[in-house]
Amino acid sequence: MVVPENDRFLRALRRQPTDRTPVWIMRQAGRYLPEYRELRERAGSFLNLCRTPDYACEAALQPMRRYPLDAAIVFSDILTIPDAMGLGLGFSEGTGPHFERPIRSAADIRALGVPDPHQELRYVSEAVSLLSREIGEQVPVIGFAGSPWTLATYMIEGRSRSEFAHVAELLQSEPDQLEHLLAILAESVALYLEAQIEAGAGVVMIFDSWGGILEGEDYVRFSLQPIQRIMEKLGPVVPRIMFARGGGGQLTEVSKTGCEAIGLDETVNLRVAREEVGQVCALQGNLDPAMLREDAEDLRAAARALLEDYGSYPGHVFNLGHGITPDIDPDRLACLIDEVHQFSAASN
Ligand code: CP3
Repeated sequence: MVVPENDRFLRALRRQPTDRTPVWIMRQAGRYLPEYRELRERAGSFLNLCRTPDYACEAALQPMRRYPLDAAIVFSDILTIPDAMGLGLGFSEGTGPHFERPIRSAADIRALGVPDPHQELRYVSEAVSLLSREIGEQVPVIGFAGSPWTLATYMIEGRSRSEFAHVAELLQSEPDQLEHLLAILAESVALYLEAQIEAGAGVVMIFDSWGGILEGEDYVRFSLQPIQRIMEKLGPVVPRIMFARGGGGQLTEVSKTGCEAIGLDETVNLRVAREEVGQVCALQGNLDPAMLREDAEDLRAAARALLEDYGSYPGHVFNLGHGITPDIDPDRLACLIDEVHQFSAASN
């Protein structure tokens, strides 16, 4: 694997000191960039963009040309795995992803296979390898996947922004079936991430975007345990980040999954989080994405407050608490990154 010239992100993930706080932005490639909208038009659709390695690589490089970011993330989606399982993924403008054939019964679960990352999902590792070739000598490339629980919620509900009625029903009536589905997904995610690491990803991230709808023991059993199995399968070959959206109340449990870093949403206070798990895990986050709509001075002040909350300890990667939204002015993001650089360099 190539060692990138800029290793701030890798050092922070290992909780080693850095000259300034590394920064990258969730959804840094996306609709807020006019050049992305143009590329998507050329590709014909979001899915074509993802499935064509040259386009996917180009999308991932776009934000790198605009901003001095400390990491590049492969351009793809978490729903590639259920798509490869044959559920029929579609995206419609305004309503987000949907599946033609959602999972509704034990028979549906039994019919699922583990996708081969070198066959059905080959386009993803090809995009990783192109991107690594293009930029891997400069900054680390992040490979990613959805968590089994988050993938399962989409597969069962069939669309986003649902009330989670079907998944709640399966959890109540047939928890063993749900666990079986999660085991198939854990196996699939582990193989998929291994293929991305082989292709050049120097960091991997698991997005558990819907873990927060589970409480207490259910969170541990259905969200964290399958993630822990993936971490055990991967081992510490590259730093592993777990985006624990809604998991702020159980960070100690999250840290037990074995990840090197925890991605936090904007509801968590960084100081409190560092005091709880900072001896075990690096922390990534967690500015409220809505702050990018505020004027430049308020945005800069919010970034400084967040850096001060974490304090001058190693182990912080600056990011948003969730993805950047399509309405954001790209210059506002430049301003945020500039403030993170200046303020964190001065406090080091
Ligand atoms: O961060 C990056 O730059 C890499 C690309 C990336 C995308 N999706 C591209 C994308 C990543 C890391 C994801 C992860 C993802 N996808 C998650 C986990 C993170 C989170 O947001 O909680 C989830 C839940 C998904 C599923 C998904 N994909 C949804 C719900 C949507 C619709 C959201 C929306 O804003 O419309 C997508 C579409 C999607 N994934 C887009 C992009 C750039 C927008 C597609 C377009 O219309 O061009």
